[in-house]
Amino acid sequence: MQSLHRLDHLRSAIEAWRAKGESIAFVPTMGALHEGHLTLVRAAREKADRVVVSIFVNPTQFGPNEDLDAYPRTLEADSRLLEGEGVDALWAPNAEEMYPDGFATSISVEGVSADFCGASRPGHFAGVATVVCKLFNQVRPDVALFGEKDWQQLAVIRRMARDLDLSLPYADAILGVPTVREADGLALSSRNRYLDETARAQAAVLPTAMRQAIARIEAGAPVGAALRDLEHRLIEGGFSKVDYAALADAASLDRIDTLGSRPARLLVAAHIQATRLIDNMAVGSG
Ligand code: PAJ
Repeated sequence: MQSLHRLDHLRSAIEAWRAKGESIAFVPTMGALHEGHLTLVRAAREKADRVVVSIFVNPTQFGPNEDLDAYPRTLEADSRLLEGEGVDALWAPNAEEMYPDGFATSISVEGVSADFCGASRPGHFAGVATVVCKLFNQVRPDVALFGEKDWQQLAVIRRMARDLDLSLPYADAILGVPTVREADGLALSSRNRYLDETARAQAAVLPTAMRQAIARIEAGAPVGAALRDLEHRLIEGGFSKVDYAALADAASLDRIDTLGSRPARLLVAAHIQATRLIDNMAVGSG
């Protein structure tokens, strides 16, 4: 595996593969890799001749009071994991090259960015969209893979790629991969490392309460009541604050209060101790 830290080195590697007619699959990450990330990497292997994984803790997607400084940085261990997965190149750019002095551009994706994490984390999705656009321009992949764990992020990136004609040549070039979970249902996340033993055990109430709310909604219970009960269960179970618990159209992310024929998604963000966790699941045929 090549470990690349400079854009000219990345471009040479990519040009060499392109010259041989090889295709490239790309998995962007912020590191602190776990089985969720590695599942994306394995799916990427199936899609193209070469796999590039980026690790960049992107400062512009963190708010001023968020965990940018605390975010786990484990490049050596990450690098060994990627090597073991047969990744061709690890792209770990430095911040000065990503954001040189005078950097002034920001991509704002209206609509799908507005609600949910966009509302509770102002500026977050502009940071994500801008860095992902840059990464796409740097790597120029045929296909890029993202986790459904970050459902809204996936919607934002799909919208941006469509709106800006980012030319990923595959028909379904932005692929979503189902969420990988622990045995008790908690979605894998780099932020789970922040949880102490008590909070980690309590956190499992999140997927459990979500599944129960979904069962009730699918059985015809009023959506508002099911969502309120879900919030209560989270607070009783040890969460300190619920940013949102909502049913939304799976594609537009518009809030809905009844299940229709279109795919729907239950989306939740909640705080336990100092950690904010997010999760989402399909509802009905969603
Ligand atoms: P990060 O949180 O490191 O996640 C990288 C990718 O792994 C994302 O596509 C995310 O959805 C996916 N992922 C995380 N946990 C997962 C799980 N349990 N199951 C399946 N996939 C999972 O998301 C980001 O980084 C950044 O915002 C990034 C897109 C890299 C831009 O900076």
